[in-house]
Amino acid sequence: MGVSDPLYVGLMSGTSVDAIDCAMVRRHGDHVVIVATHEHTIPPHVKRQIAAISHSGADEIQRMGVLDRMLGLLFAEATMQLLHLARKRPVDISAIGSHGQTIRHHPPSAAASEETSFSLQIGDPNTIAEKTGITTIADFRRRDIAAGGEGAPLAPAFHAAAFSKAGVTRAIVNIGGIANASILDGKELLMGFDTGPGNTLLDHWIARHHGQSYDHDGQWSAAGQIHDALLQKLFAHSYFSKTGARSTGKEAFNLPWLDSQLAGLEPIAATDVQTTLMELTCISITNAIRNCPLQVAEVYICGGGSHNSYLMKRLAQHLAPATLANTSVVGMDPDWVEAVTFAWLASRTLEGLSGNSPIATGASGARILGGLYPGRDLST
Ligand SMILES: Nc1ncnc2c1ncn2[C@@H]1O[C@H](COP(=O)(O)OP(=O)(O)O)[C@@H](O)[C@H]1O
Ligand SMILES: [Mg+2]
Repeated sequence: MGVSDPLYVGLMSGTSVDAIDCAMVRRHGDHVVIVATHEHTIPPHVKRQIAAISHSGADEIQRMGVLDRMLGLLFAEATMQLLHLARKRPVDISAIGSHGQTIRHHPPSAAASEETSFSLQIGDPNTIAEKTGITTIADFRRRDIAAGGEGAPLAPAFHAAAFSKAGVTRAIVNIGGIANASILDGKELLMGFDTGPGNTLLDHWIARHHGQSYDHDGQWSAAGQIHDALLQKLFAHSYFSKTGARSTGKEAFNLPWLDSQLAGLEPIAATDVQTTLMELTCISITNAIRNCPLQVAEVYICGGGSHNSYLMKRLAQHLAPATLANTSVVGMDPDWVEAVTFAWLASRTLEGLSGNSPIATGASGARILGGLYPGRDLST
């Protein structure tokens, strides 16, 4: 890898809405190396607007239009900050890959029909290209949906490129708001899917009861008991009986859904609910990996969930004898895998290469993903 290899920026703001993850990578063939990273703060008023637009309400189109522009400006600001930290200029960057903020995810597996399925990410890429001067690639999911796919997960192709090893069976699991897994059979991607909730229910439950944005190191989860009847009810969710290409979102796993499951049971201590939600995340990941038609030997975790030491401990117990570690063991800091994925996807698109894995999304074929928004000379 040399200085002449192209640089890309990946921007990711996930379902957790905790921050905008920004990664600058240098790409050499299919190999990427992180050059710089930056976690950009999302102002509280923007977080509130994202939460408000995530479900139907009055004046939705107006609010979406305004938020689309605000997020575009914020993504541009985040990129300029990253460039400043890395001492790079806009002309040094080949392209930005911007995931955008998901405000709706209605994939074919959850929609009434394939024709009415859609996934919507906002954060105006015109604004990003205009303000940074850098060619921006965005809207990665809708082409896959147009080709009959789920539009998600898109990480598996990158996981296979970055983390596969000949002769070894591995699972790469990203535990963000929602969790997704890629199953690697040697160098080949065997399967990829969302496993269900990652941190989203845990975050919302502790926010309701303790006003905290997340359960630090799983300390609250560790303090309670698993409520078996609740766990059984939660696992009756139709998502857990799906097989093959599948994806999900906050539309399926949210507090109103949890409340409706709690309503039919005797009152349960809030701490025990948190412990049970943790178990839901751990067992749904474990089951999804176990149900694969091959025995996975090594599991590597990325995303914010990798910092939850109690979750990692429970997951290791469930997954044994498979080994569990975070992705730093296989060469990438777990905090930046998703942002790097979108830098990698942008590079694929720019080179006219496909980005989706039909095995994971269910699309009818491999497609070049995203729309391209040309950069400009900032001096004019
Ligand atoms: N030290 C920690 N202990 C417990 N959970 C953590 C910790 N650090 C991060 N997290 C969890 O990770 C989440 C953010 O993960 P992230 O991968 O950014 O998700 P997303 O892609 O949905 O934005 C937080 O909301 C929180 O639930
Ligand atoms: Mg995040």
